[in-house]
Amino acid sequence: MKKRTFIKNLVVGSAAAAMLMGAGTAFAKEFRLGLITPPPHIWTKAAGAFGEELKGKSGGKYSVKVFPSRQLGNEAQMLQQLQTGALDMAFMTIAEVSNRVPDFGAFYAPYLARDIAHAAKILRSKTATSLLASLPAKAGVVGLGYGSAGLRQVISRDPISSADDLKGKKIRITPFEPIKDFYKILGTAPTPMPLPAVYDALANGQVDAIDMDLELTWKLKYTEHAKTVVLSNHMMFPMVGLVSARVWKGLSIEDRAMIREIMAKHLDSTIDKYVAGEAKFLEEVKKTGIDVKVVGPDFFGTSTDQWNSIWSKRSSALSALRKEAAK
Ligand code: BEZ
Repeated sequence: MKKRTFIKNLVVGSAAAAMLMGAGTAFAKEFRLGLITPPPHIWTKAAGAFGEELKGKSGGKYSVKVFPSRQLGNEAQMLQQLQTGALDMAFMTIAEVSNRVPDFGAFYAPYLARDIAHAAKILRSKTATSLLASLPAKAGVVGLGYGSAGLRQVISRDPISSADDLKGKKIRITPFEPIKDFYKILGTAPTPMPLPAVYDALANGQVDAIDMDLELTWKLKYTEHAKTVVLSNHMMFPMVGLVSARVWKGLSIEDRAMIREIMAKHLDSTIDKYVAGEAKFLEEVKKTGIDVKVVGPDFFGTSTDQWNSIWSKRSSALSALRKEAAK
């Protein structure tokens, strides 16, 4: 090759390489993913692992910045941001989703799941998965799969020997309708409150009891200000991985498939963590010396039936999910 041709090729080649590198940078996208849980929580760790894997598998084209602990607002605010496209992704309680799409309230049917392994089966069923299809039209978000937290219990400042002892008491709930109805039926005063406010509210007597799972009861030390854990396992507590429908529309089919597969895998890993961890969380709670009162559906009398009669009118998914659970 003549010297001039060699230099020309070199210049053209370098320019092309620079353009490609520039294009690589231009196409790199950092998704913002919000959650309400703190950094050490299983959901937050799963979000981080999702981001790492997506970055690796996309060759750096996509990365994820995780915003834990309500940094971007509460779940209602985050859902709004997803709808406008101001937020790309979120791992969110089904609780908030059920406030917008009442069909999802069916997941909170008291004693839908017998135990945490049964809850995992329900969440992995086709019936549960098919519910996600309604989300783009009804809520402006795309649901890529379910995750989970532990089953719900009642942690009380006072000793509790029957459901009558709960009557008239202020009980902290996660802010959503199905659980509010459950505690109203029981004759209590359900008090909606976000997670970060719970410890102080229990400590200073602003509430008499809290609706909570075993993991957080142990890790956030709610036992320090309570006398009884009513081990009722009365509800499951699913989570869903969401992407803004507006953001989703702008992605290629291949990229959507990659994001769907990786996110669904990490969401699902949270379900396994609670199936494996629930017994340990209970042991840790017991080690604090708190009284643990084991109860079953009978403890709540007819309230489950009353809840079902309200929610069979509000959620068209309830009977299908009950059938799925009975399989
Ligand atoms: C709660 O509000 O109790 C809660 C929220 C997210 C994860 C676990 C618990």
